[in-house]
Amino acid sequence: MKKIGVMTSGGDSPGMNAAIRAVVRCGLYSGLEVYGIESGYAGMIDGRISLLAHSDVSNILSRGGTILRSARSLEFKTDAGQAKAVKNLKEHGIEALIVIGGDGSLTGAKLLQDKYGIKCIGIPGSIDNDLYGTDLSLGVDTALNVITSSIDMINNTASSHGRTFIIEVMGRNCGYLAVVAGIVTGADAVIIPEVPHDINEIGNMFINRYKEGKTRNILILSEGAGKAEDVALQLAECGDFDARITVLGHIQRGGTPTATDRMLGSQMGIAAVEALLEGKSGLMTGFQDNIIVLVDFDEVFSNKVTVNESICRLMKKLI
Ligand code: ADP
Ligand code: F6P
Repeated sequence: MKKIGVMTSGGDSPGMNAAIRAVVRCGLYSGLEVYGIESGYAGMIDGRISLLAHSDVSNILSRGGTILRSARSLEFKTDAGQAKAVKNLKEHGIEALIVIGGDGSLTGAKLLQDKYGIKCIGIPGSIDNDLYGTDLSLGVDTALNVITSSIDMINNTASSHGRTFIIEVMGRNCGYLAVVAGIVTGADAVIIPEVPHDINEIGNMFINRYKEGKTRNILILSEGAGKAEDVALQLAECGDFDARITVLGHIQRGGTPTATDRMLGSQMGIAAVEALLEGKSGLMTGFQDNIIVLVDFDEVFSNKVTVNESICRLMKKLI
């Protein structure tokens, strides 16, 4: 194997640049040529593919986002789109791929391997932390830090006015960000898609807490569990909360990568190149119990991530 490709796809996440840098540096160290594919599967279809040099990945560890850019491509889901993408890889002589992205992007990698025989290793990059087989995906730690400092700020103004806030965080159908944010910011309630909730119970608890002298109530809502406006209306039926809504939105994805995400990206990038050099394919790099592991795509995709029960228990006891 002489030539490999690297790309980022789906929602960008802090730490992707550390992973790209590690793939390029480790690839060059091992005598490979490393090609960067721009804007995920869209760039693979359009042939936006170029050779990367050592200096192309200088000074990027501290940058959020991805220097290779990212995209979502509907065309890649079609046979015609896939054929164009594979043709472009072949024309560049690319024999193996490292795909950095979330579950959709890694599903695409599995497809390239199973249907077209292209060797692929996936690196989990998504703030949602919704991939089975890794305790953390790239970007989760940074996103949590952004969420934490944002909620700390909201806490200050909420306490001053004796207000209730509903704060919506990302995560698609996974409540991980919401639950961990709830624990580390001392939120008063968390609503996530995986666990049923009773809005009347939450409303009554808020009323009682105000009576006991509490100066604010913070409810963290995971985006997959409903709309903040609806929750505000439902809460208003329980009592006169005059709740304010803050949707944290894309700032959650745009933070400066933390040391943890830079380290994770570096370790996973190297593990991915080493796996390809050993002739391996169809695997995702994972972080389990503090070590980097390789997890079979079949295992990743046949299991559903569940929010860690012990974290949910912790939350219950702290509220
Ligand atoms: P993420 O990787 O962050 O989960 P998406 O789910 O949007 O983001 O997926 C990113 C891209 O991966 C999609 O735009 C598409 O090009 C590709 N992809 C997703 N699912 C599939 C699939 N089932 N088959 C082929 N390609 C897919
Ligand atoms: O998958 C990452 C994520 O940020 C989700 O948390 C969110 O639902 C989605 O991407 C937002 O996507 P877009 O960037 O297309 O608005």
